[in-house]
Amino acid sequence: MKWLITGAAGMVGCDLRHELESRGEEVVALAKSDLDITNGGDVARFVDDARPDVIVNCAAYTKVDLAETEESLANAINGSAVEFLAAAADRTGAHLVQISTDFVFDGSSSRPYDINDATAPLSVYGKSKLIGEHAAAKHTIVRTSWLFGVHGPNFVEAIRNQIRKGTNPLRVVNDQRGRPTYTPHLARAIIRIANLGASGIVHYADDAECTWFDFAAAINEELGATVEIVPVTSDQFPRPAKRPAYSVLSTERYERLTGVKPESWREGLREYLTARA
Ligand SMILES: NC(=O)c1ccc[n+]([C@@H]2O[C@H](COP(=O)([O-])OP(=O)(O)OC[C@H]3O[C@@H](n4cnc5c(N)ncnc54)[C@H](OP(=O)(O)O)[C@@H]3O)[C@@H](O)[C@H]2O)c1
Repeated sequence: MKWLITGAAGMVGCDLRHELESRGEEVVALAKSDLDITNGGDVARFVDDARPDVIVNCAAYTKVDLAETEESLANAINGSAVEFLAAAADRTGAHLVQISTDFVFDGSSSRPYDINDATAPLSVYGKSKLIGEHAAAKHTIVRTSWLFGVHGPNFVEAIRNQIRKGTNPLRVVNDQRGRPTYTPHLARAIIRIANLGASGIVHYADDAECTWFDFAAAINEELGATVEIVPVTSDQFPRPAKRPAYSVLSTERYERLTGVKPESWREGLREYLTARA
């Protein structure tokens, strides 16, 4: 199979490229400097030239808080540009895998979100990603959550930096629940899903669910640090974009399709801390 990755210099894009190349797959990896996906003509040309079997769109506007004041840019990258990719995929017979987010949900559920549950994003970012989902509706949408990987800024790095700076105690929100996901695990899941040719929405997130406070406590423990982690509420940490209080994704369809259980974020965390010293 021939793979085309957009946004290939991002956190997920880098790990996906690495995973595919380590398997000897043919990969066309395009960073933003190679292909700006908001340019419809360029998208069509690159896809026509490369003739990939699978396009994985790892390009996105991911600045969740800034998006509140950059709505049209967020919508252009996360929404309209996906239409260009879907059209190019349709025309050339390629399969598009669009990555989406738990932020399409409002967090009012009290049980893990199923693929068919109603979406109701709370933020501009979430809304823009939902536009992208609609654009890729005929293809595959992989929703995921709380990503951390060595090729991008993320929560693990933020906590480690605070610990290194000597911040003690560390206040971390304990009223948002989700499933942290290590990006190499997501990369493997995307490849499994694409190889099956499954279409529609698939949720992939690592096991198990926790709060940001629990996640920070695990980071503290794995680092062998002894910082006091104090649980706080989201109200004590006001941010421009509203986050869902509960965004646990059910991975039931992923497990059924692939026959594989999600990997463990705790193991991913250990690997991450070794890989990014
Ligand atoms: N991070 C999370 O916690 C999280 C959670 C759930 C879902 N997701 C989704 O996972 C996917 C990958 O996210 P990530 O964490 O890997 O984000 P990332 O590290 O920010 O990577 C996104 C990449 O897309 C590039 N990009 C931005 N605008 C572009 C454009 N117009 N054309 C081409 N490339 C463009 C960015 O380049 P520049 O940096 O140069 O702008 C960056 O390299 C996204 O769809 C995101 O919505 C992320």
